[in-house]
Amino acid sequence: MQILVLFLVLGVVDVNVSQRYSSIQWLSHLRRRWHGADWQAEDIDCPLECDCPAAYPTAMYCHSRNLQHVPFVPSHIKYVYLQRNQITGIQDGVFDNATNLVWVILSHNKLNADKISNNVFTKLGSLNWLFLDHNELTGVPQNLPKSITDLRLNHNKISKVHSSSFQGMTNLTTLQLQANVIEDIQGGLKGLKSLTMLDMSKNKLRKIPENLPETLQQLYLEFNNIENVPAGFLTAYPKLLFVRLAHNTLTDKGLPSNVFNTSTLLELDLSFNKLERIPFVSRNLENLYLHANKIKEFSLSSFCSTTDVTNFSRLKVLRLDANEISARDIPAEAAYCLRHVAFIDV
Ligand SMILES: *[C@@H]1O[C@H](CO)[C@@H](O)[C@H](O)[C@H]1NC(C)=O
Ligand SMILES: *[C@@H]1O[C@H](CO)[C@@H](O)[C@H](O)[C@H]1NC(C)=O
Ligand SMILES: *[C@@H]1O[C@H](CO)[C@@H](O)[C@H](O)[C@H]1NC(C)=O
Ligand SMILES: *[C@@H]1O[C@H](CO)[C@@H](O)[C@H](O)[C@H]1NC(C)=O
Repeated sequence: MQILVLFLVLGVVDVNVSQRYSSIQWLSHLRRRWHGADWQAEDIDCPLECDCPAAYPTAMYCHSRNLQHVPFVPSHIKYVYLQRNQITGIQDGVFDNATNLVWVILSHNKLNADKISNNVFTKLGSLNWLFLDHNELTGVPQNLPKSITDLRLNHNKISKVHSSSFQGMTNLTTLQLQANVIEDIQGGLKGLKSLTMLDMSKNKLRKIPENLPETLQQLYLEFNNIENVPAGFLTAYPKLLFVRLAHNTLTDKGLPSNVFNTSTLLELDLSFNKLERIPFVSRNLENLYLHANKIKEFSLSSFCSTTDVTNFSRLKVLRLDANEISARDIPAEAAYCLRHVAFIDV
């Protein structure tokens, strides 16, 4: 009976934790924790507000329970889930024993850069994933581990990014910065020599960031205020496969004539801009999105040489709807050149 009362009291005190469970589940969970066979070694240092299931001895689950701080992470933990809480800062020392941490998931909290202690991550030499998306960061936290491969900072309030923020992160492959208020990346990201994916959509960029890594394969820049693409832009990044520039303010004047004539590109999204002409694209391009522009004519020469339409294009998807042309404007010879396109959306 006494034990049951204790459980009930704990259940009430820790009301945040119990939100995820029905009270019965929560009681049985506690009972297991206090009396079960796994009330030994590993579980003993699991913070009370978290779950460390015996079946996953290196994981610590603390998500969705109104936590306001990061609990101290025991040394054997590699994966820590802290998403969907009310955490505003990270106090010094919480990760100091957990030097083997591989993932730290802090998405959907209220993190504020000023409340993240400067050296909180410095001992995490094995950290690969750091998810800080959907928080209230106004800047990139300092001294991030150089071992990170996947860094998510999207949906914050970051306005300035300095190249030094990511200094030495030579293993970083994915950088998500979408939905912030970034106007420019001073100094570029050139040092990120493994970066393959950069998402900076939904920011306040007025131009394509300069000095990006040559390893880049995916570049997402939708919903910015970009007016032009610099000459030679794509040749500077020979590994680019996917480029999205939808919902910007691109005009014909902003596109140098040969800027998309690059053989590696597979997908190019230029929809929701102010183009009046179809730009010349490489024969190797597979997906081209040009809908919601102001295109007035269908120029077959943008895809094939008009003197040799049998030298055809690899294009599979071509969207031209919501422009100022109709199916009647597409010449019959288009069928020889665009032979992989099932139908052209006009
Ligand atoms: C951190 O690790 C040290 C050495 O293993 C240990 O003595 C100490 O109790 C740990 N700290 C906490 C708060 O668990
Ligand atoms: C990058 O990854 C390699 C291979 O996994 C590893 O040996 C190296 O230490 C990592 N670099 C950093 C800075 O963590
Ligand atoms: C596109 O690039 C290829 C390969 O570099 C080149 O042969 C071709 O002339 C270019 N097309 C145009 C229209 O400039
Ligand atoms: C098709 O045109 C491209 C670009 O002008 C040229 O490099 C290529 O050799 C042509 N291919 C054939 C089979 O004529």
